[in-house]
Amino acid sequence: MKNSRIVGLGYYVPEDVVSNTDLTQRMNTTEEWIHTRTGIQERRYYEVGKDTNYSMAVEASKTALERADLTPSDIDLIVYATLSPDYYFPGSGVLLQRALNFRNIAALDIRAQCSGFIYGLSTADQFIKTGMYKNILVVGSEIHSSGLDYSDAGRHVAVIFGDGAGAAVLTATDESEKGVLSTHLHSDGKYAEELAVLYPSSHVENKFDPEEQKAGGKFYPIMNGSYVFKHAVTRMPEVIREALEANDLTAEDLDILIPHQANGRITEAVRRNLDLPEEKIVSNIQNYGNTTAASIPIALTEAWEQGRIQEDDLVCLVAFGSGFTWGSALIRW
Ligand SMILES: CC(C)(COP(=O)(O)OP(=O)(O)OC[C@H]1O[C@@H](n2cnc3c(N)ncnc32)[C@H](O)[C@@H]1OP(=O)(O)O)[C@@H](O)C(=O)NCCC(=O)NCCS
Repeated sequence: MKNSRIVGLGYYVPEDVVSNTDLTQRMNTTEEWIHTRTGIQERRYYEVGKDTNYSMAVEASKTALERADLTPSDIDLIVYATLSPDYYFPGSGVLLQRALNFRNIAALDIRAQCSGFIYGLSTADQFIKTGMYKNILVVGSEIHSSGLDYSDAGRHVAVIFGDGAGAAVLTATDESEKGVLSTHLHSDGKYAEELAVLYPSSHVENKFDPEEQKAGGKFYPIMNGSYVFKHAVTRMPEVIREALEANDLTAEDLDILIPHQANGRITEAVRRNLDLPEEKIVSNIQNYGNTTAASIPIALTEAWEQGRIQEDDLVCLVAFGSGFTWGSALIRW
């Protein structure tokens, strides 16, 4: 059986840096509230007319392809994770296919929110392990800033999210000990409405109801923050242990853990739960906020660029988010 290795990584974030202090000009909040509760200091916001969800994916993908020493014509499948697509339909995957002139390969959009990149990586891994495809591009890209409720009703959500994109190229290898060792995916729809954007909705008469487009309306993300927090700090360690046990490994064997950047306090709780030293866990939420499906590929790329990931290292990716969905991936680099 083939195995899949990550051979190229890239990310793109918009130029516009929005600090917590900048946010206080836009909404009713304080620098201190945001920083102490989330660890975030700044995030990036897209530039209207320059960045789009798929254009950011294009930039991240170009870097990942270049580092993989591959061209778009080498890619056999696009897997595109996002909760903020350019259009209601079609998905952003085909826009990336068009923009980079890929062959007429399948473009698969993944809707698993913060877990989107891990769901995407797992999907790509299965296509490679079965021998169906050789090279696969997995992307996570998000533009949140155009869809946040900056009124008091949405301020606990608006301060968290940022824009950005990350990409990884996976390729087939015959080495059985290297690459993606296993992936573990879960969901629990009981909590679907605890973190969600409910409109435009196909199960109401007027799916574009103007009333719902006003502050506090259903076109904006709603979040039961404490609920999400509680589940995240339970599910993330649980699914990391599931991955370790499946491979007869323990937390001590990990060289680096790259969690979805949900909230600095969630990352810290996961670190403590697994008793990992600080240098073994990646946290960049202070710079970008929560970029949902893009957060893991951005953090993974940065960690790799900083030399924090070396050949043979045991790398664990973990995510939790809306759905609820959660998952992990264990990789021998
Ligand atoms: C979002 C989160 C930081 C909010 O913290 P919290 O302590 O639960 O905050 P609450 O929403 O209960 O609000 C507490 C108070 O702060 C106020 N508040 C909310 N947002 C605020 C803001 N941006 N600025 C200032 N005050 C704010 C509330 O109005 C409330 O005031 P009150 O006590 O006078 O009623 C926290 O719940 C969290 O991190 N949850 C996890 C969310 C997450 O990671 N989501 C991503 C999913 S992957």
